Amino acid sequence: MNRVFSGIQPSGVPTLGNYLGAIRNWVPLQHTAECLFCIVDMHAITQRQDPRELLANTREMAASLLACGLSPDRCVLFVQSHVAAHAQLAWVFNCIARLGWLNRMTQFKDKAGKDREAASTGLYVYPNLMAADILVYHATQVPVGDDQRQHLELANDIAEKFNHDYGVDFFPHVEPLIQGVAARVMSLRDGTRKMSKSDPSDQSRINLNDDSDTIANKIKRATTDADLLPDNLAALEGRAEARNLVGILAAVTGSTPEAVLAAHAGKGFGAFKPMLTDALVAHLGPIRAGMLRLLEDAPALDTALRLGAEKAEAMAEPILKRAYEIVGFLARR
Ligand code: AMP
Ligand code: TRP
Repeated sequence: MNRVFSGIQPSGVPTLGNYLGAIRNWVPLQHTAECLFCIVDMHAITQRQDPRELLANTREMAASLLACGLSPDRCVLFVQSHVAAHAQLAWVFNCIARLGWLNRMTQFKDKAGKDREAASTGLYVYPNLMAADILVYHATQVPVGDDQRQHLELANDIAEKFNHDYGVDFFPHVEPLIQGVAARVMSLRDGTRKMSKSDPSDQSRINLNDDSDTIANKIKRATTDADLLPDNLAALEGRAEARNLVGILAAVTGSTPEAVLAAHAGKGFGAFKPMLTDALVAHLGPIRAGMLRLLEDAPALDTALRLGAEKAEAMAEPILKRAYEIVGFLARR
């Protein structure tokens, strides 16, 4: 059976982008594969986090993943810092990955911005830790949004170089699972930027805990153009904001952008936006309610995460041990 691994940073409440690009695609995988889903707090601190917020965001992320349909009986849901093997294998990978490889990572360039000298070294080696997250379980399938493709290529470069340098066939090849009509959801304010938890403007995103009024407000204020909707997708070329809203409606109604256009060609955004709002409220309302319910019982959430960490630890331990042997570390006896 394939082993699936994915991670999400507790750097804020998940957005509609996280949901449509990642979380929603994780739910059905629980029924067909052995799945591990990890709240990657160690990745989150590669950029400054307020400790109290990080703590609250970690529980909130756990609650939202459960509310979206992940079940502790069907998958291993846990927090990265609870399982030391991630950091331990990452150190080995820091010694495998080449500076030249990391220099090509577009996410580092985006996140570091203009003042690269001021970025943390953790942000730089972030992809090595991500490779360790996956490979410490010998997971081979990684459901992620489109933006993570380059990091998975790097994970494969690391696995291959490790295998080659030590003359072993130990780490498997990992494959991205990039699914869904909305693999990339864009900001509501600027259709050329991805919707992100860390965008300074809350108006740029829908959060999974936004109430109906907030959703209505954000959609009403979303950037659009004055043109009418065309009857085909090609005609949306160059209209990034319009393309994004059409994609979102398709994704939450289980349709396709082509079908949405076929149904709504000739309408302006004044007519389209209220429909989009209704669809979003209908889809996200139950998730928000579930999340609020789960957050009322923090001890139960913490227990679920502890059980997840225990299962993950038991899976990672023999693989880390073997990697250490391959590298030539003396076993502690
Ligand atoms: P992050 O928020 O960076 O921790 O991302 C968690 C997951 O959500 C990853 O699989 C990302 O690829 C996915 N993701 C994040 N933002 C978006 C977006 N705007 N559209 C689609 N997928 C996204
Ligand atoms: N880098 C991923 C993101 O920002 C999160 C992540 C960390 C991850 N480790 C992972 C995703 C391992 C998949 C597998 O979205």
